Amino acid sequence: MHPKSGLALVVSSTYGTGDVPETAESALASLLDEKPDLSALRFGIISLGDSHYGDTFAKGGLHWDHALRQCGACRVGEILKIDCQSGEDPAVLAKPWLAGWLDLAAGPDAGMATGAVGSDRGR
Ligand SMILES: Cc1cc2nc3c(=O)[nH]c(=O)nc-3n(C[C@H](O)[C@H](O)[C@H](O)COP(=O)(O)O)c2cc1C
Repeated sequence: MHPKSGLALVVSSTYGTGDVPETAESALASLLDEKPDLSALRFGIISLGDSHYGDTFAKGGLHWDHALRQCGACRVGEILKIDCQSGEDPAVLAKPWLAGWLDLAAGPDAGMATGAVGSDRGR
């Protein structure tokens, strides 16, 4: 995780048993171990998964949410979970959420906002 301030959009898929992909494990672990000061960072999360996995559906992004919050960063909006087995293009599914997220991020309550956009089912 490189930016320490500003606005970041994290897009994560889910592997293992609700885990982040193997290639992202070390970055996630270093956030949790080193806890850099990210209090000037705001972020959003798009979490990809497959609803056939039941309880662990799209949990990959939740690990980023937890780690970034531990470092003091502030989430803007709700986490968008995308079900990749739906057959729909994830980019198309994300587009309206992204527009809402950008609005929230630019708005007067930016950084305080959760719940206005997206779907956070199953959390
Ligand atoms: C070995 C394996 C484990 C997976 N575990 C989960 C899981 O626990 N939860 C989930 O929602 N999706 C899980 N998935 C589904 C992937 O998240 C899904 O296929 C997604 O589209 C992968 O995105 P990517 O191809 O961009 O990496 C798993 C897929 C594989 C191959």
